[in-house]
Amino acid sequence: MFTGRRILLIIGGGIAAYKSLDLIRVLQKRGASIVPVMTRGASEFVTPLSVAALSQNKVFQDLFDLTDEAEMGHIELSRSADLIIVAPATADLMAKMALGLASDLATTILLATNTPVLISPAMNVRMWEHASTQRNLKTLRDDGIHICGPDEGSMACGEFGLGRMSEPESIADSAESILLNGPLKGKHVLVTSGPTHEQIDPVRYISNRSSGAQGSAIANALASLGARVSFVTGPSVCEMPSGCDIIQVETAAEMLNAVQESLPFDSGIFTAAVSDWKIENPTKSKIKKKESDNLPILKLVENPDLLAIISQMQAGRPKLVIGFAAETDDLLENAILKRKRKGCDWILMNDVSPETGIMGGNENDITLISDKGIEDWPRMSKRSVAKLLVEKIVDELV
Ligand code: CTP
Repeated sequence: MFTGRRILLIIGGGIAAYKSLDLIRVLQKRGASIVPVMTRGASEFVTPLSVAALSQNKVFQDLFDLTDEAEMGHIELSRSADLIIVAPATADLMAKMALGLASDLATTILLATNTPVLISPAMNVRMWEHASTQRNLKTLRDDGIHICGPDEGSMACGEFGLGRMSEPESIADSAESILLNGPLKGKHVLVTSGPTHEQIDPVRYISNRSSGAQGSAIANALASLGARVSFVTGPSVCEMPSGCDIIQVETAAEMLNAVQESLPFDSGIFTAAVSDWKIENPTKSKIKKKESDNLPILKLVENPDLLAIISQMQAGRPKLVIGFAAETDDLLENAILKRKRKGCDWILMNDVSPETGIMGGNENDITLISDKGIEDWPRMSKRSVAKLLVEKIVDELV
């Protein structure tokens, strides 16, 4: 099962395209959501309308569609999935991929992507056996492209041999093993996420605007590369990540406890917007407005700093500790100092001033600070930030 995973399905222009309709159904049954892309040739074999109806999603077809570019550019489209499947992968598509051509939306996505790619070739047996196709196949394999099939059997063209597209169930099995046996297999990663609630009385609390979206996207990206993820989250409105151990907490103290109980882990990513303070003595009963003539005075005490505690562990410190720096002023200066003060390895700085729309929004604008220097990332979706960060984590841990 790959519940919650997003698969970009590129349907090539071959007679086997009709099997892609069944593939959509099989992948969905295993929990994936499908973003379909069709080549011009594909729409000669199956209609975009049936693909849209089955996938319950918009079908992307044209590189130069301004509406698509405004909604989601082709680069973003190529990065936002956990896996790209090309089925059927025609001889023409394989050749273009091997050469690195970007002549339409499908090939541009395939050239721009940083996501694992699985192709399911389908063509006439002579085309499959042709030296060019075999040469392209080797190139694609060397480039790290995963290949499922083709199978042997009688083909629509009346010939018999290797060239039939694999059955949807086997393509789905290959997809599952790619998603579950990623480079982070065997690694344990902890992610803190969301805000915390610090109680004032039984009905009131102190909190902040964090939605938990960035933490959830990071946990999803880690799990899709095979990591065991402990996801410790405060009360969040955001959808929980799939394939993770989810530990729900309310306060900073509970979050610290959950983090310490999750040790040892290879890497800790602290995205939670932990409340810096809590009320010294929360009351057991609701504070009544009319109890006295004075306004209630709330005495604050500092909460433990989870990131600093884990970063400064003497024994058993995780290999890679990553924090976020939510800033509104003197961004870079504050973030550099924060990294030093807390002792984490990397810090991802973001500007959380209300006008950026980052806190509670879908996008993020990151500057990564590490001992290698300062790296400015372009503004992108939180999902893409997660994927980019996780790629760097793979480089560091594996
Ligand atoms: N953090 C934490 N525990 C806390 C406070 C913060 O683990 N009690 C972590 C956050 O998850 C984040 C990093 O520390 O990874 C920085 O959080 P941020 O809110 O930017 O900084 P603060 O430590 O709160 O400092 P300041 O309020 O001065 O900006």
